[in-house]
Order: sequence, then C-alpha cells, then structure tokens
Amino acid sequence: MASTHNGADADNGAGRSLNPIEWRIQQMNERVRSAKEQDLYLYLQPADKVNGAYVTINGRNMLQFASYAYLDLLGHPKITAAAQAALAEFGPGTHGVRVLAGTTRIHVELEKKVAEFKHAEDAMVLSSGYVTNLGTIAALLGRNDVVISDKLNHASIVDGCLLSRSKFVRFEHNDMEALEKALVEAPKRSGKLVVVDAVFSMDGDVINLPEVVRLCRKHEAMLMVDEAHSVGVLGETGHGILEHFGMDEDAIDIKMGTLSKTIPAVGGYVAGKADLVTYLKHTTRAFVFSAALPPPAAAAAKASFEVIEEEPQRIQKLRSNVNYFIQGLQERGFNTLKSETPIVPIIAGDDERAWMMAKYSQDRDIFVLPVVSPAVPVGTSRLRANVTAGHSLEEIERAMDIFEAAGKAVGVLPE
Ligand SMILES: Cc1ncc(COP(=O)(O)O)c(C=O)c1O
Repeated sequence: MASTHNGADADNGAGRSLNPIEWRIQQMNERVRSAKEQDLYLYLQPADKVNGAYVTINGRNMLQFASYAYLDLLGHPKITAAAQAALAEFGPGTHGVRVLAGTTRIHVELEKKVAEFKHAEDAMVLSSGYVTNLGTIAALLGRNDVVISDKLNHASIVDGCLLSRSKFVRFEHNDMEALEKALVEAPKRSGKLVVVDAVFSMDGDVINLPEVVRLCRKHEAMLMVDEAHSVGVLGETGHGILEHFGMDEDAIDIKMGTLSKTIPAVGGYVAGKADLVTYLKHTTRAFVFSAALPPPAAAAAKASFEVIEEEPQRIQKLRSNVNYFIQGLQERGFNTLKSETPIVPIIAGDDERAWMMAKYSQDRDIFVLPVVSPAVPVGTSRLRANVTAGHSLEEIERAMDIFEAAGKAVGVLPE
C-alpha cells in the first residue's frame, strides 16, 4: 500500500492507518531493507580485529580508510598502559557524575593536560564530543541571545543551538560576507556566539579563521571552535587551528574538541578562561547530570596528548600522506572538493553511485564508507575516505587504484 507523510494511506497490517511516528519508523526500515536486499547495506559491520591500518570484518583483512585514527595512536604502548593502569586503579566506571562522586585524580590530570595542550587557563571534560557541544552551547545561551553557525557545522553543534532556544542563524559555508551580515543583523543588545568547525567533518576543508576572528571582534561576538578533526592534524606540532594560522591563543574564546578522533578514547572537552570553565562546570547539564568519563578513557586521553607532543614525526607523516592522497585522487580525475586534511571526499554524485563505489571497494578489501543525503547535499553523495599516518604510500596507491576502478565501474570516471 502506498504511504504518505501523514500515514493516511499507510496500513499497519492490522487494518489501521499508521500514525506519523509509525510511518517514520516504517520508512526507515524500508530503506534499510531495500539496501540489504541489494547487498548494498554497509553500515554497522562488526570488526573482529583492528590492527594499525587494517580491520578484520567477516574474516577478511581490509585496508582501513574509514577511521579517524589520524595519527595511528590506537595500540600505542604508552596509551594502552595508561588505560590499563587506570582500569586496575579505579575500574571501568565511576558510579557518579563529576560534581558528586565521579571525579578522580585522573580526570583532574586530564583537564590540566588539555588546558596546557590548548594553551588555555582551564578545561572541562565530558563523556562525549557530542554532549560537549550540546551541553556547552545550551549552557551559554538563552532565549534573548543569537547563535550564528556555519551551515556545514557538525550535527552536535546544530543540536546544541536548537537546545539553547536562542535565535539560531546559519550562514553559507565558510562565506565571510554572510557571517558579517548575520552579525550585523543580530539585535544590538543580544549575546552573540559564533560557532564553527575548524575542519569540516564531511568536506575536509578548513574554516577561514583569521577572518572569523576579525569579524567576531568587530561585532563583539564570542567565538567557539570545534577542533574534533584538527587536533593532531593541523599545525606544525598538531596543536590545531591556531597553530595552523599562526594566530594568538586568545583568538578563540571556547576551544572545543573530542577525545575520539586523533585521540583513541572517548569524550569531549572545552578549554578556555578559568571563569568560563568554572561557569560551565556548574551549569552544563551534560556535566552536572551525566556520568563521568570512564577513568581508563581519561588516562588514555591524557597519555595521547603527551604522545602527540613527544612524537611529532607522526604529524609530518600524516601531512605527507594527505598531500599524496589528495594529489593522486585528483590526478585520477576525482573531485575531492576543497579538502586539505585527512578527510577526503571522493564525490560520486547520487546515492546509488556512492553505495556502489563503496561496495566495489569493500569487495576488494578496501574498507571505505559512503556518505549520502541528507547527511550531505543531494548530488554530492560520496565516499568519505580518511587517510592516516598509519598508511604506507604503497597502501595509499593500492586504495587509489581500487577507487579509480570503482569510479569507472559506476560511471563517475570515464572508462
Ligand atoms: C566536528 C565534530 N564535532 C563533534 C563530534 C562528536 O564527537 P564524538 O564522536 O566524540 O561524540 C564529531 C563526531 O563525529 C565531529 O565530527
């Protein structure tokens, strides 16, 4: 039976129309079922083993091009040892929220390390990057404020803006005229917060931070930058976007990041002035009302920041791999948008082609995943290939050959 958005014609199998919630559930299930029937459903495949640049799935050892292990830190002996020691000392969890029973010595040490790494006065860590954005933005803003957000910002930023109940304004991606217009149009007396990703998680391009900072100062707005994909990636020593542009450390008011991309743990942080962090530690609902980061994750994260500083060769290797990969893909005729980071979109066009290219690649032991609409605009569905410091040039070459063959097989590249 045909379905409509309000379920008027849809049937639940018991002779009753579907209500809108049931209709939504049914629609998604139909999409998943159809992809599975065509053998094109590639999400949620369980890994049996993760080993450097390789992942074993269904008994097949595949070259990994879908992880955020930018500096290849998973399995690093110092990081593993730190997690094991914390597990032995404190166990896998804290039985508490941070403000009550959940703070251990390890959490405090991690916050000190994050603050030092981000050249900030203080820091707060939470149990995921997602809740860090959600909680921080909602804690900072109220009904009479305005939040101005790049259109390609991560979903956790968007959700934080919505949760804050402030006026939510989105500007065209990396368009500084549009940002200035939004700032000019914000009511004079409102609190203004501009939020941007440092590196955009779908396109791999970098925000024009010098201009964003100039505009924020001119229009007296606070600035929050999400460094999920720039820590360990941007800057000569991997300290992130301010190092990349050679800007002073006070240029960003709220320095946000995750402990789940370059850092092989889980969690999120905000670093900034001590007063800001004190405010957030007492008002961020995701901090006050949600369990503390598990001590092994906190210890692994602290050790990871140390390793980034102790082993700068990893950042250099990542940079040369990124250049090699992007250049090689472009020479083969692919559109990689404006990526200049390890997140490299390989544009396929429609959803079907993206699915088929991913399937073709996985069948040849390259583990890469498609990103399709609505996660990205219609017509820009893609493989999102992530290159890391763990790849050798031969491995990158092998992957590119397979992506090229996949592109030809599905008509993204000419034969
Ligand atoms: C830009 C950005 N911010 C925040 C997050 C959320 O971080 P986490 O996965 O640690 O919750 C992500 C995750 O994909 C991200 O890409």
